Amino acid sequence: MKSVLFSRFFILLPWILIVIIMLDVDTRRPAPPLTPRPYFAPYSGGRGGSRLPFRRGGPGRGREPRNESWPRPPPPPPEPPLPTIYAITPTYSRPVQKAELTRLANTFRQVAQLHWILVEDAAARSELVSRFLARAGLPSTHLHVPTPRRYKRPGLPRATEQRNAGLAWLRQRHGHQRAQPGVLFFADDDNTYSLELFQEMRTTRKVSVWPVGLVGGRRYERPLVENGKVVGWYTGWRADRPFAIDMAGFAVSLQVILSNPKAVFKRRGSQPGMQESDFLRQITTVEELEPKASNCTKVLVWHTRTEKANLANEPKYHLDTVTIEV
Ligand code: UGA
Ligand code: MN
Repeated sequence: MKSVLFSRFFILLPWILIVIIMLDVDTRRPAPPLTPRPYFAPYSGGRGGSRLPFRRGGPGRGREPRNESWPRPPPPPPEPPLPTIYAITPTYSRPVQKAELTRLANTFRQVAQLHWILVEDAAARSELVSRFLARAGLPSTHLHVPTPRRYKRPGLPRATEQRNAGLAWLRQRHGHQRAQPGVLFFADDDNTYSLELFQEMRTTRKVSVWPVGLVGGRRYERPLVENGKVVGWYTGWRADRPFAIDMAGFAVSLQVILSNPKAVFKRRGSQPGMQESDFLRQITTVEELEPKASNCTKVLVWHTRTEKANLANEPKYHLDTVTIEV
């Protein structure tokens, strides 16, 4: 009796193994790609979420499971809407302008749900910037306001009127409705921005802060953080500033901008390097600041300043036979 059972078992064993192997092959997930996805992947990939990676495959997305009777995993819960990042960039005409804007657009294009507010320091919108934006491939708004001549002097704050024009546009656009989730960031046209920075600022509840590289005569400046709160500033320049931070070192939620309708950049009484403090003290306190970038220990943005272009050999006569935009 025992031997009959044993022989049956050995006859069945290969069949059992085959069934197990088939089931395993059928349900095995596709192998992960050889190259790991970059860390910023959830936020890259174009507009409107159409190319968002990590989306689960739906019908018609290839790779249909071979065993239709196998239960599918439940669909993921709907994700909350991604807050829009509004980047306000003041810009002015100079030989390097188009190069700066190209570098910026190449970064911003990779950030999902980013709206670029480009504000020209000019009496009218220029052809160069209009043409550039039309082909930039990202949602944008093109504004302009000239800096009054009396303020165009070395030592005086720059881009005050342009940043205020960006703020006014935001307030007007969102004034009559409940604010959509959004984050505002002042993105000067000559800085360098990592993609990770946008991941960090996207979760801003009121006002968030982080280090800035190559600024204030140091390799970096940063907010000093203890127990998750900003308690001081690591800076080489005017440490007495209430917020010793560069314009590139903070972001503000749209809600805060709308609930403080009078908060603007001021010309009157503003000293060099005080624009950030003058603005931030109108909308927040140091205690309230939200440290980002691993408690302000990572540099994700650099206050790079572009060298003035050397055009010493531009011809006065015998100009080129064609006109080329640079
Ligand atoms: C530092 C800060 O990083 C700036 O945020 C601040 O506005 C500036 O000081 C200041 O003193 O007001 P810095 O590199 O010295 O920056 O300034 P720029 O990069 O020359 O100018 C800041 C922004 O204003 C740039 O986006 C630039 O294109 C724009 N800008 C500059 C104008 O729109 N018009 C100008 O005449 C000059
Ligand atoms: Mn700059």
